[in-house]
Formats: sequence, structure tokens, C-alpha cells
Amino acid sequence: MSMVDSFEKIPVKIFGSLGEGSRFIGKEIASLIREKDAKGEKTVLGLATGSSPKSLYSELVRLHREEKLSFKNVITFNLDEYYPIENDALQSYNRFMKEQLFSKIDIDPANCHIPNGQWKKEDIKKHCVEYEEMIDKAGGIDLQILGIGNNGHIGFNEPGSSIYSHTRLVPLDNSTRIANSHEFQNMSQVPRLAISMGISTIMKARRIVLMAWGQIKAPVIQKAVEGNVTEQIPASLLQQHNDVTFVLDDVAASELTRFKSPWLSGEIEWTPAMIRKAVVNMALRLQKPILSLTNGDYNDSGLSDLLVEKGDAYEINLQVFYMLRDSITGWPGGKPGSNLPTHPERSEPFPKRCLIFSPHPDDDIISMGGTFMRLHDQGHDVHVAYQTSGNIAVTDEFVTRYLDFAVGFEVLSGIDSQKSSQILKQATTYLKNKKPSDIDTPEIRSIKGLIRRGEAKATCRYVGIRDENIHYMNLPFYETGTIEKKPMGEEDVVLTVELLRKLKPQQIFCAGDLADPHGTHKVCLDVVFESLRRLKEAGDDWLKNCWLWLYKGAWQEWDISEIEMAIPMSPDQVLKKRFGIFIHQSQKDMVPFQGSDSREFWQRAEDRNANTANLYAQLGLTKYAAMEAFVRWHY
Ligand code: F6R
Repeated sequence: MSMVDSFEKIPVKIFGSLGEGSRFIGKEIASLIREKDAKGEKTVLGLATGSSPKSLYSELVRLHREEKLSFKNVITFNLDEYYPIENDALQSYNRFMKEQLFSKIDIDPANCHIPNGQWKKEDIKKHCVEYEEMIDKAGGIDLQILGIGNNGHIGFNEPGSSIYSHTRLVPLDNSTRIANSHEFQNMSQVPRLAISMGISTIMKARRIVLMAWGQIKAPVIQKAVEGNVTEQIPASLLQQHNDVTFVLDDVAASELTRFKSPWLSGEIEWTPAMIRKAVVNMALRLQKPILSLTNGDYNDSGLSDLLVEKGDAYEINLQVFYMLRDSITGWPGGKPGSNLPTHPERSEPFPKRCLIFSPHPDDDIISMGGTFMRLHDQGHDVHVAYQTSGNIAVTDEFVTRYLDFAVGFEVLSGIDSQKSSQILKQATTYLKNKKPSDIDTPEIRSIKGLIRRGEAKATCRYVGIRDENIHYMNLPFYETGTIEKKPMGEEDVVLTVELLRKLKPQQIFCAGDLADPHGTHKVCLDVVFESLRRLKEAGDDWLKNCWLWLYKGAWQEWDISEIEMAIPMSPDQVLKKRFGIFIHQSQKDMVPFQGSDSREFWQRAEDRNANTANLYAQLGLTKYAAMEAFVRWHY
């Protein structure tokens, strides 16, 4: 048994990206189908929905189209469906499966089974028994695909579900309703019930593959893989299955001991970054400032190796303390006229042309508002590029308020513009009659985009940025009118390359949500990375003087041991940033796609910036009111 095995009770396979992980699972499915085909047998697959399997399904479609994988002999059983829900509703899993997979492969629709959200309530028990019988009749599930909820659910078996549970009607956990609310217009539309295969149904599958992508899944993966078997974390029950593999991307795996504290699970190389990580983690766990750590603390924390290799606690403490100290600066664009070799940024050139890429119209102020203001106030030529319109995050009620204003304004000014009245009338009528499953018309989307554009412009004005330094990119990948975005496209890259060539910045800031597997931020980042790659390939010389800094989007912060530049904020600057965020009125109070965190954006930003400052203080550095954090990306 290796050291890793002693922590991990479920075999895991870790990949650099969800694409690679999905291809790995796709390959396993393809071999299984081909093997069974060769024996003249049917393959029975258990399938999941949600965001995790989407890339797997596109891989299966690719295998079908390009590698002639046939699904003619495949029978499928899906895990679950919301209840009640119309089969063709936008959010229904019946529709999801058709759109993502079944309509694109040669499977016989009669072989596809999904619990039905339209079953009559009084008949559900009977249908659930029949569902189990159908699985048995098909010979049982050969391979069950699973995702995992942030609370550890598998299928919709929420915490507390019994290991003996069968297919049944289940109530959805509030945390699941919040996590899935992004699929719906608002929380109240998320069904309270679902029909789900039970844990025992899942455990009967001969083989199980669970996939998880992204930072958000990292804590629950750690619990399920390394924790005790408990019904409170349903996925941990899979420890009792004899043929299960978790397929993860590296961020979903990041809380596993072998990554979080690799010195505990085997031999490692003590690079400066690893030393910093080990010492910072130890100090925070022991609640001691870095400079107070003793040799005894190192030994008790499994770091005797480090002492043997690098000497005394005193020396190592100092090395880490200096690294942290040198990451703090009030000069995000570098301190002009000074020679500070350990400063995170170059002092020359001054002023710098800085380009902030903001995926949505408010990420600049939410995630780096303090730094944004400092850069401007310190005399740099700051440009902001709003990568997407952000139009889907504006509620219909909010648009109606603007429409009322526009109609009132026309009346007030006696304008008799037939055309614009026509647009206004149409928009108002459309919104009045809109059904939850309707996708906004291009006109409504433009109006919503315009509202967000106005808010972004007002924030820039508040910071002091001139209009010509604001760039609305409206990247086309975003413009689908639904949560589901297109993948990065050629036009997105061309627009970005053009802007970069025009501005030739010396400093770029980007939302570095490396762990946001499906969201807009990751595509926005990929577009910038791809653009920089092309520019480099083309030999654009100015790139040599351009540094790229990553900030985290609204949802998370960098791990304290990774931060390479921390910009302190005074209480007044915190307030100034708060008011800057307030300008985004369409995003205040209940926004449609809030995610699982019910705090407003300004609250999240303040909590997170105060938390970073507190962590620095706990480690024995100066206590500031708040801090924004960045990591440099070497491209
Ligand atoms: C869906 C299902 C759920 C999801 C889980 C994760 O059929 O059974 O257990 O797998 O909620 O959802 P995503 O993949 O959207 O994070």
C-alpha cells in the first residue's frame, strides 16, 4: 500500500482538464460497447445529467461520428429527473439527454429510459418499481456514470439517503436547489422534488465512474475519497463498491492530501513554492505567526524532512516570511523611480498601459476594484475590456423598469417616433407574456446588454477612466440567450488579438478562474490565452514587456500560499470599492444566476478581501483592512 492509498479509499484518476478526463471515460465506454457487441450482447449504461457529463456526451457524439461507435445495442437508464416538470421544458433532464446525446447518436429511442417528471403523483411509486424492474430485465447496469453534488449527493440522493434506497420521489436539498438555480430564471422556479434512482440501485451497477470537474467540487471529493463512509456524504458510500473510479480534473483533486499536503503522502521536491505552502498551512493550522514556528512544530506536522533538507526552523521561517512580505505592495503597477528587486512588479516603464479584462461588466470592480482605482490614481493609462455583454443576468422586472422609463420619456418629450415606440411596445408585450422556458428575443437581449453597459460605464466614470479607454467586446461565444454558452470561437480570438495589438499593454489583468469549468470566465480566459499564444507565435515584440496577472472571479480567492501580489486597502478604499459595486444596480439583491452563495457581490468581495488581510495578519504580517490578490501567469 502506497502512502497515497492510505489516504484515498477510492481509486482516482486525475487529468489536466475536463476534456482529457471526458476522453478517458469515453474510451472506456467505447471499449465496453465494442466488447459486448462482439459477444452479441447489449450494453446497459446508467447516465447522469448536470454540467459535469456534457463534455463526456460531446465526446461520445464525436466517437459515434468520427470513429463509427454505434449505440444500436445500447440501453440507457438515467439517474433522475425533476418533479414535476414537462418533458420538453428547458430544464428537464429528458430534454437535456435528447439535446446533448440521444438525438446525435444512433441509439433506439425505445432503449432510452428516464424517470418522467409528468407521471401522476399517485402513480409514481408504481412507476419507480417498474423502473427498477426494467433495469433488472435489461440485465442490470454495466457501467453507471455519476456526477457529484457539492453536498455529496449522487443522483438526487441527498445527504441522509439510505444505502438501501431504491428509485423514488425525493425532496431536493435546499443547497441543491440553490446550486441548480442557475438553470432556472429564479429560485422559486426550481422544483422541490425529483425522482431519483436510489443508492442501492446505483450500488448494484457492475462498474461505476464518477466525474468531477472544478474547484467547487474539491472539498466534497476530499470527503468522499478520504473521509469516513457516511450517509451524510452519499458519495462516500461508493467506498463500499468493488469497482469504482473517480475521474477528476486537477482542481477537483486539489484538496486530496497528496496535493494539499503532499509531504504527508510521500517524497517530494522542496521547491520555494512547496516550502511556502507547507509552512503557511502549518502556521494557519496551529494558529501561530510564521516567525513563531519551532522545530517541534515542523516535526509534529510531518515536516521533519524539510528540516533535514533545509536546516533550522528559524531559517525556513524567515525565508517564508520574506516571501509573504515581498508579495505585499501598494504599487500594483510597480513603484516608479525605485529599484526594488523583490517587488512583484517592475518599476519601469512608468506610466504603464494597463489592460483589465473583465469577463462580465462588473468583474473589474468586484474582484480588483481597489487595484483598479490605485492603478488609475497612480497615473497609469488604464483600459478596461468588457469581454461579454452579461445580458442574461438582468431580470425581466429590471428591464421592464427601464422600458417604463423609456415609454414615459417619449410621452414626456412628445416624441412621435413610430419606430422606437414599436420596439418598446413589442418588448413590453413580449416580457408580459414570456413563459419560463422562453429564450429572450435579440431585442430584449440588446436592451439587457445596454443596461449592463451603462452600469459599467458609470463605474469607469466613478474610477476616473475616460470613455475612449473602455472597450465593449461583446464576444460572440456568450450571445446564446441561455446559460449554455458556445465554446471559444475564432471570432472571439480575432477580436481579442485586434484589441491587444491596438493597445500593446505592458500589464494585463485577467479573471483567472482556472477552475470554472463551464462558465463564462473560463472561456474568457481561454480566449486571452489563445490570443497571447498567437501573438507570441507571430513574433509580436511588445509582448516581451507585457506581464499577465490573474485575479479570481466573484466566487473564490487564491490560496494564501499562492498569492504573488497582494494589494492592501484602507477602510476608506473598501467603502469606495463598495460604492463602485453598488453602481451595478441590475446585479443587486436577487440576481437570476447567483449560484449557491446568497450574499450579494459586494458582500462577497468585502468578506474575501478582509479574509485575505486577516490571513496575512495571522501569519504575522501587518494587518490591513482588506487586500486584493493576484498571481502572475507566465505565458
Ligand atoms: C444529475 C445528478 C446529480 C448531478 C450533480 C452534479 O443527473 O444526478 O447528482 O450529477 O448534482 O451536478 P453538476 O454536474 O451540474 O455539477
